[in-house]
Amino acid sequence: VDSLKGKDLLSLSHYTSKEVQQLVELAIQLKTITKAGKCPKLLEGKTLAMIFEKNSTRTRISFEVGMHQLGGEGMFMNARDLQIGRGESVHDTAHVMSGYVDGIMIRANSHAMVKELAAHASIPVINGLTDLAHPCQALADLETIAEVKKDFKGLKLAYIGDGNNVAHSLVIAAAHVGMDVVVATPQDYEPSGDVMKKAAEIAATNGSTVTFTNNPFEAAKDADVIYTDVWTSMGQEEESTKRLQDFAGFQISEELVAIAKPDYMFLHCLPAHREEEVATAVIDGENSYIFQQAENRLHAQKAVLVSVLAD
Ligand code: CP
Ligand code: NVA
Repeated sequence: VDSLKGKDLLSLSHYTSKEVQQLVELAIQLKTITKAGKCPKLLEGKTLAMIFEKNSTRTRISFEVGMHQLGGEGMFMNARDLQIGRGESVHDTAHVMSGYVDGIMIRANSHAMVKELAAHASIPVINGLTDLAHPCQALADLETIAEVKKDFKGLKLAYIGDGNNVAHSLVIAAAHVGMDVVVATPQDYEPSGDVMKKAAEIAATNGSTVTFTNNPFEAAKDADVIYTDVWTSMGQEEESTKRLQDFAGFQISEELVAIAKPDYMFLHCLPAHREEEVATAVIDGENSYIFQQAENRLHAQKAVLVSVLAD
């Protein structure tokens, strides 16, 4: 996607709908040619620093493998081991790293910190999850829906659970491709009002809608895609007992999915807590696409890497 060359990916709000749609198409193409053993080495000689302040399985492995498949190299770094972990400024870190590597992927606690890093780095910065957003996940989610449903138009996507980082990026992404989105959360766990407003604006330009409810059944009714994420995200562990109570009734249960379309897709960014946010029968059932979705992180991120880093 030519217009993205040299750009950051901090959130999908700053991308155009056309760019998001093109990234999804590119991801699908890259998946096909990679599976045929012909992934082009478009990032030969390029290096990507991968900084993690939090745990990761999918993001870490898929970025590292993705760089490798494209002929470049991904370098894992635990933030605790860097000088930033003992107080070196984000400003200085950004300048120093810009002299060594071609791009930075970062998973951080604070979205503001990632914005600061991007502001001072002269190289592209890719968000690998913050408290606010998880854009790479949402691109893989769109890729998965496109593979299964072929066309986004007219689809109803229901996000049911915590109004968190994953929800934010999903809602924006779905708006960019013109899906109708309904978000259902318990009271006090709503997504950011700014994100919902932005998503509604984007959706309007693509002929679709973004709505909110506190009723999971209203959201699930006739849904084509049902999506959930954990009720307790990384860093919120001390709230987990309270959250378990507050989210009662929001589990993606067999009863809930029974009112979705018969060919509905179940998606979850993973890691999952079976029998908390989702019933085992649903996540392991025939409408679940969670492993295809996880695999697609690899291809969606290659689409991003090629777009922002390739010469
Ligand atoms: N979905 C996701 O980002 O997984 P990891 O935390 O394992 O990277
Ligand atoms: N919302 C979860 C997503 C993990 C991939 C978290 O932030 O922990």
